[in-house]
Amino acid sequence: MTETRGSSDRAMRARYGAPPPSPTGSWNSTLDLLLRHRSVRSYLNDPLPTGSLQSLIAAAQSAATSSNLQTWSVVAVMDNELKSRLAAVAAGQKHIMECPLFLVWLADLSRNEQLADQRGISLEALPYLETFLVASIDAALAAQNAVIAAESLGFSTVYIGALRNNPTEVADILNLPSRSFAVFGLCVGYANPDALPDVKPRLPQKAVLSHNQYDNAVETEIFEGYDQTMAAFSARNETMRTTWKDRVFSRMSKVSQLAGRDRLRDALAQLGFELR
Ligand SMILES: Cc1cc2nc3c(=O)[nH]c(=O)nc-3n(C[C@H](O)[C@H](O)[C@H](O)COP(=O)(O)O)c2cc1C
Repeated sequence: MTETRGSSDRAMRARYGAPPPSPTGSWNSTLDLLLRHRSVRSYLNDPLPTGSLQSLIAAAQSAATSSNLQTWSVVAVMDNELKSRLAAVAAGQKHIMECPLFLVWLADLSRNEQLADQRGISLEALPYLETFLVASIDAALAAQNAVIAAESLGFSTVYIGALRNNPTEVADILNLPSRSFAVFGLCVGYANPDALPDVKPRLPQKAVLSHNQYDNAVETEIFEGYDQTMAAFSARNETMRTTWKDRVFSRMSKVSQLAGRDRLRDALAQLGFELR
């Protein structure tokens, strides 16, 4: 019991970079694993054990899926030439080349459409934004299950949203069918132990959790405190010391920061998503 309380306090302190919220509730090894998550951007050359991919995909397929439609797919990329072309789309992120397994998660309506075509049925719901959103949510839930499974097996991961810089190029590289879209990639591999980042602290729970109705009166001091926590984190783990707010503003105040993703609607139209 004392050991459990000790682990939960340690994990909570790391997750918030501050004293844990009280009271701390029940605790177990799953919570411990979840709170230890960190994205890793430097990998060893070592391959994953045989069967790892199948375990990760079984975990992914165990996620809830809207109406059991299963409107997602994943492409496991291990070929260096293909990885280097995908890395070029993603602004040259080197971890894509380093990791032994790069998973590309798709919102995929093509399979269900093909089955309907074979039956001679038209799927009227297909062109709607709702159906695209369902497929994207399905893909994200599946991927996150794979992340947790990977971390439980001692692997590390990092999502690569930068594949959306050029979705039609990704479709071309991976030979994707119409009505499928690469929502993001995921590097999987063994972390380089010399470049393992700390757990990145999150906003205090008060900033994200309301009770019964949305809390519009979150005190601004919360964000000042978090800025200090994140400035210290970035000084320890990154090349430049930045606060969280500075990062939010620099990411969101200029369209150029979207790095091509401002044209996503056009790209989706080309890939067969009308988004009515
Ligand atoms: C959908 C999604 C896309 C992301 N894309 C990238 C990316 O292209 N490159 C990268 O280095 N990290 C990427 N990340 C990782 C985030 O930067 C990271 O999760 C965040 O900074 C919090 O850090 P942590 O995961 O270590 O807690 C992405 C994360 C998500 C959820």
